[in-house]
Amino acid sequence: MAFDFMGKTVFVAGGTSGINLGIATGFAEAGAQLFVISRNEDKVATAVEALKATGAQADGASADVRDFDAVTAAFEKCAGSFGDIDVLVSGAAGNFPARANDISSNGFRAVLEIDVLGTHHVMTAGYKHLKKPGGSIINISAPQAVVAMTGQAHVCAAKAGVDMITKTLALEWGPEGIRINSVIPGPIEDTEGMRRLAPTPEAMDAVVKSVPLKRVGRKTDMANICLFLGSEMASYLSGAVIPVDGGWYLNMPGTSLDPVLDMIAAQKNK
Ligand code: NAP
Ligand code: COA
Repeated sequence: MAFDFMGKTVFVAGGTSGINLGIATGFAEAGAQLFVISRNEDKVATAVEALKATGAQADGASADVRDFDAVTAAFEKCAGSFGDIDVLVSGAAGNFPARANDISSNGFRAVLEIDVLGTHHVMTAGYKHLKKPGGSIINISAPQAVVAMTGQAHVCAAKAGVDMITKTLALEWGPEGIRINSVIPGPIEDTEGMRRLAPTPEAMDAVVKSVPLKRVGRKTDMANICLFLGSEMASYLSGAVIPVDGGWYLNMPGTSLDPVLDMIAAQKNK
């Protein structure tokens, strides 16, 4: 086992599917006790069972990160089950491909509220329960935070906001021994995000070609960077925004979602 999280508590917001469940699974396999939250009760129950199947202790709660009281109640439940938190991962997010003129006020607000307000809620409601010193917060960002992409104005704005929260709170909470970093996943296989942004084999093929390492990422790639960030090995690392993407973001200027947006428009016009 490369990392030992035996007896440590890890809380993952949005940890019931995709990348975030992959991260939770990595910590569970390293011996941690896991608490996961998301909106859908069935997804929470299924994720908790899957985490327990690794041999870890696991619990969860249904909560929308836009609802501060619900997030606060989830942290209280986690404290009752597992005590103070060693690693807090904030990864709940919303995304859909749409050009700015096709995004209503409510659509833009939904993504901003899940990503930015949600990150603020998870971090500030979780603060009370974080180990001080020693707590590590990992915010899950996206390439859109650093590279503009057509069809993603809402997500670019939201994830850039998440990364600025990472940096600002690294300043505010650093003196208490809390480290805060953002991880920027590249395109990760078998995820809802890629199903939405690269919904055809052709779109996926174009993505793979644009990654310098010529492969999409795996959930274990994301788990491994989070295990490192949550560990003592990263004890002097804070306020960083770390791409884990096979070098993808270096190639992104000049790419766009135009083919996908045109396909969606053609389907609507049928
Ligand atoms: P996903 O499976 O849809 O994961 C999103 C998770 O957040 C789910 O557990 C979802 O569960 C939860 N969630 C959504 N809205 C929520 C809300 N309002 N309150 C609480 N929980 C909420 O998608 P994914 O593709 O794995 O993405 C995971 C993270 O990685 C996101 O932060 C995304 O921006 C980032 N990312 C993904 C990729 C990629 O290649 N997929 C690339 C870059 C960055 P419920 O539906 O039950 O709420
Ligand atoms: N194009 C344009 N607007 C869209 C859209 C799309 N593909 N999908 C949703 N919207 C708009 C809706 O029309 C609505 O606006 P309106 O009230 O003006 O019509 C607004 O977004 C909110 O939609 P709603 O479904 O009520 O919001 P929600 O809070 O239930 O869901 C979303 C939030 C829209 C982000 C939803 O996609 C979601 O739950 N995503 C989580 C999973 C995810 O995105 N995973 C990938 C992470 S990278």
